[in-house]
Amino acid sequence: MGNTSEGGGVARKRGCGWTKEDFLPEESFQSWGTYVKALGNTTARLKDRVLTRSLDEVELHAVRDRSKNEMKKTLNWWDLLWFGIGAVMGSGIFVLTGEAANEYAGPAVVLSYFISGVSAILSVLCYTEFAVELPVAGGSFAYLRVELGDFVAYVAAGNILFEYVVAGAGVARSWTSYFATLCNHDPNDFRFYASSLAEGYNRLDPIAVAVSIVVCVLASLSMKGSSRFNSIASIVHMVIIAFMLVAGLTKADSANFKDFAPFGLRGILKASSMLFFAYVGFDGTTTLGEEIKKPARDIPIGLIGSMSLVMIVYCLLAATLVLMQPYAQIDVDAPYSVAFSAVGMDWAKYIVAFGALKGMTTVLLANIIGQARYFTHIGRTHMAPPFLATINKKTGTPVNATVFMTIANSVIAFFTSLDVLANLLSISTLFIFSLVALALLVRRYYQGRKPKIWGAPIVPWLPSASIAINVFILGSMDGSSFARFAVWTGILLVYYLFVGLHASYDAAKVAQKEVQVSQATSMEAGIAS
Ligand code: ALA
Repeated sequence: MGNTSEGGGVARKRGCGWTKEDFLPEESFQSWGTYVKALGNTTARLKDRVLTRSLDEVELHAVRDRSKNEMKKTLNWWDLLWFGIGAVMGSGIFVLTGEAANEYAGPAVVLSYFISGVSAILSVLCYTEFAVELPVAGGSFAYLRVELGDFVAYVAAGNILFEYVVAGAGVARSWTSYFATLCNHDPNDFRFYASSLAEGYNRLDPIAVAVSIVVCVLASLSMKGSSRFNSIASIVHMVIIAFMLVAGLTKADSANFKDFAPFGLRGILKASSMLFFAYVGFDGTTTLGEEIKKPARDIPIGLIGSMSLVMIVYCLLAATLVLMQPYAQIDVDAPYSVAFSAVGMDWAKYIVAFGALKGMTTVLLANIIGQARYFTHIGRTHMAPPFLATINKKTGTPVNATVFMTIANSVIAFFTSLDVLANLLSISTLFIFSLVALALLVRRYYQGRKPKIWGAPIVPWLPSASIAINVFILGSMDGSSFARFAVWTGILLVYYLFVGLHASYDAAKVAQKEVQVSQATSMEAGIAS
């Protein structure tokens, strides 16, 4: 599809400023008259968008071409392996293991990590089939568009983007706290206190903004460069973890394992749902589809390899912690630092803080990279302004979307005190993981499509088990998470009904016409020859 197509045009930059064409180029927004007419057709358009599904070919070619330039194909399985690890292993393991062991699972926290890991890997297997067949920047958004239609894809992607932003801001602020600890200061010491602002918004955090900007520049300049940085940081992180395992296990006391599951099965499961947070983030890897050299080989190795490694590392780290200290003495805020101090290795807390800092940097990098690619593909479909879809010609990266998401992250990170609320982040992830598993069932059974290259094993059992476990974990989330989910979904729907629906409807109609024209042309060419 060319430059000037797509419901009035794709993202275009004129001179040094943006024009209306970059935001609302579609037919429905040409005048108040066309807009009012479009609003009058809302019900019919909604029906069309709910019922019509996109096609693999459309996502792979027509939609992708709307970015004008292509992303550079520079990544291989090695990059993906470390990207998966970098995207997932952040502060969760260093923070949540304490509460999970102390209050819910006791030493059986190891089992809890295993259970949540298995549920994450089931989702990884479902994602991998799609990622191999549809290697595009939209990740789950594109998969859902093809199997469950625009509307479901929009609601799911809107929620996941919100949580990516909240999580990104939270990670950036934790970065400041850990950095302060590493410099022997209190976590809030490097923040400015603004007495005129409300409580919760008055500890201004310029370091979080600076870290986000550095990550944004790196992500915008080069994906290969970002990947190299991520690989080195993740390898250093692994070395630090290996050190923690060896040092910690020299102080292991098997007597701590005696009362293995003091809170029973219920406690173990409750802890698993909480620890699911530690596995969140791998889906960002699937948004790199367009930048991978050999998707059919690199994606399965990278995705499944990284998550299996992460699961093993988490179980070993949890086992080390509960072997070092009786579960009731494990600290709920800084479990590893306190455990090392308790066994006479006070200095280890610096190593732990450094490891967490490394982990958070790569999680933030993956977060911004993933958000930008999601948004790029959403912009291509016109469900978000198409200026977000532009790929920079020189860098081959989605610079507009990357900068836009970094601004959103930074504004929240500068003002808002966010504890990374595990439940708040996990709810959309579980929702979207369940939808992707459902989409896989639709693909295999309703559409009758067999995977051409790589397929999830034991279908339908695997995706069904994945949905069941995700719904079970969702059941243990608190009411406020669901309330947040409902409010944000409501806001998304308002935007959709007044803007996104009409823009994407127009774009889809233009795309359909173009497909018909190109089919007719090739038929004519066939007859002529
Ligand atoms: N999985 C990420 C972490 O543990 C979110 O920090």
